[in-house]
Amino acid sequence: MVRETKVSLTSLMYPMFVHNNGRENVPIQSMPGIFRFAQDNLYGEIESCLQLGVNSFVLFPAVKDELKDKVASYALREDNFYLQTARQIKSRFPDVVLMSDVALDPYSSDGHDGIVENGKILNDETLPILSAMSVLQADAGFDIIGPSDMMDGRVGAIRDALEDNGFTDTLIMSYAAKYASAFYGPFRDALDSAPKFGDKKTYQMDPANKWEALREAINDEEEGADIIMVKPALSYLDIIHLLKENINLPISAYNVSGEYAMVYAASQNGWLDKDRVMQEMLLSIRRAGADIILTYFAKEYAQLMNKI
Ligand code: PBG
Repeated sequence: MVRETKVSLTSLMYPMFVHNNGRENVPIQSMPGIFRFAQDNLYGEIESCLQLGVNSFVLFPAVKDELKDKVASYALREDNFYLQTARQIKSRFPDVVLMSDVALDPYSSDGHDGIVENGKILNDETLPILSAMSVLQADAGFDIIGPSDMMDGRVGAIRDALEDNGFTDTLIMSYAAKYASAFYGPFRDALDSAPKFGDKKTYQMDPANKWEALREAINDEEEGADIIMVKPALSYLDIIHLLKENINLPISAYNVSGEYAMVYAASQNGWLDKDRVMQEMLLSIRRAGADIILTYFAKEYAQLMNKI
């Protein structure tokens, strides 16, 4: 009765990986329990999540190497399997909340989120690609556009492109405070999307910076974001709190792949109680101020809640 914080299933979003390279689901070594789903198997998985009470999903494509190039052209193919999958999900399960990923890295032969020239990431030249991706995604039925690329000015560019194309009801969840973090390692295994050279420090944030996160969030709010994200979550609870106190928009937090992997590795060694740690982590992220949590634990947490 006097408990201040609760983690309800409606506040969770489940990130999922989809591929079209054969019919098998491919387990991700560094993320036990998480798979790259074959396109046709994904719908059944979504259905079982819905039965457990998880209703919101974030979709990431694992693209074959031969389809990757410097300008992520596969992302702009209207018939690409990622957009097809979204169409299928929304036609089978119209009430699902479906969020996209907007960034070049899953489609880029350089493994970077923007266009690369002479070892530099070109911010402004990347914006039209991100905008075009977003319009295609909105057209495929995604409810929320999720720019994870961290180019400056992309929220405004995407908002304008959506408006110009009549997508006035599509939300933008901006990865506003996304740090250049070592906690993304397992995700890059999942998509085979690690940068081919250098790192992402010229566009993702320095983990040492707090006020910059507020500036990024204010910019994104002004540019038309509907939801502001902090990523990763656990080493950045202070940032979640700061943004919740200062930004008048829903705040989300991404409980990223490395945070998931750590808990699993320790629990597989018998060093931590996974179920209890999972609950404590999610609770702490909510307590810090996140309205929404993107987490690979979503299904497992729902299974646990359904048991209790
Ligand atoms: C890249 C992207 C990343 C994640 C989501 N989108 C990794 C990166 O920036 O290299 C990480 C998610 C996770 O670690 O769970 N656009």
